[in-house]
Amino acid sequence: MDLGLSGRTALVWGASRGLGYACAAALAAEGVAITIAARGAAGVKAAADRLGCQGVAADITKPEGRAAALAVCPAPDILINNAAGPKPGDFRHWQRDDWLSAIDHMMLGPIEMMRLVLDGMQSRGFGRIINIVSRSVKAPQAELGLSNGSRAGLVGFTAGLARQTIQHGVTINNLLPGPFATDAQREHVEGLVAETGRPFETIWAERVAGNPARRFGKPEELGAWCAFVCSTHAGYVTGQNLLIDGGDYRGTF
Ligand SMILES: NC(=O)c1ccc[n+]([C@@H]2O[C@H](COP(=O)([O-])OP(=O)(O)OC[C@H]3O[C@@H](n4cnc5c(N)ncnc54)[C@H](OP(=O)(O)O)[C@@H]3O)[C@@H](O)[C@H]2O)c1
Repeated sequence: MDLGLSGRTALVWGASRGLGYACAAALAAEGVAITIAARGAAGVKAAADRLGCQGVAADITKPEGRAAALAVCPAPDILINNAAGPKPGDFRHWQRDDWLSAIDHMMLGPIEMMRLVLDGMQSRGFGRIINIVSRSVKAPQAELGLSNGSRAGLVGFTAGLARQTIQHGVTINNLLPGPFATDAQREHVEGLVAETGRPFETIWAERVAGNPARRFGKPEELGAWCAFVCSTHAGYVTGQNLLIDGGDYRGTF
């Protein structure tokens, strides 16, 4: 299927590895001119070299980071918002700064990026915005309160915005990953090891066994889905929270 994206431009955040990289790779394979962004310069360079695309070392939570990314990719047709998730823990130990960092990463950084690119997309009559969020907005995970709280703010905000932009050809959707085998997954399990003292391998195997697919997701599966939601075929899909979790969310709806 031709996704109709050849010649488009995309700014993909958090794309030096993991799910963001997979989104960038899938869009690049469709002929999209990609700019990837992440904080670590070495990781950005290595990933950009692999993808044959532009890269910029930039932090989505900082005004100067957002400006640096837009200096390299000033008028993206596609924006993928993505950054680090939070560490697991108990809310009794979190201070105001922990919450502000979580909100910057998982709510305000993405919203600011939308504000910066949206009017340009609307005036050109085409735009695709995808936020890589988490299944935690549908099924909260007890130890991920920083994510449960901050990401709910992002999806609540986009639910309203997405209904205002589609008439101008701009869709906004959220992808909600379940467990994928990435660095963030390993760090999450290491956090649970630190908190519970249980062995890494035991927790890892439990997560595999507890998923209906009996495996972790492959980043390229999320990348392919991201590319489809960006495609011309998905122009009537907006404001949706799209789970990709091997069926882990047990609700009928
Ligand atoms: N993997 C899963 O199972 C899973 C499940 C549910 C939700 N998620 C969420 O999906 C997102 C991506 O997960 P992942 O597994 O791909 O993580 P990952 O493998 O750790 O990759 C995260 C990427 O984001 C970049 N990044 C982090 N903070 C950034 C910032 N402030 N500004 C710009 N770039 C930043 C990282 O590079 P630098 O560190 O160099 O900046 C890296 O390129 C996270 O929010 C995660 O919580 C993941």
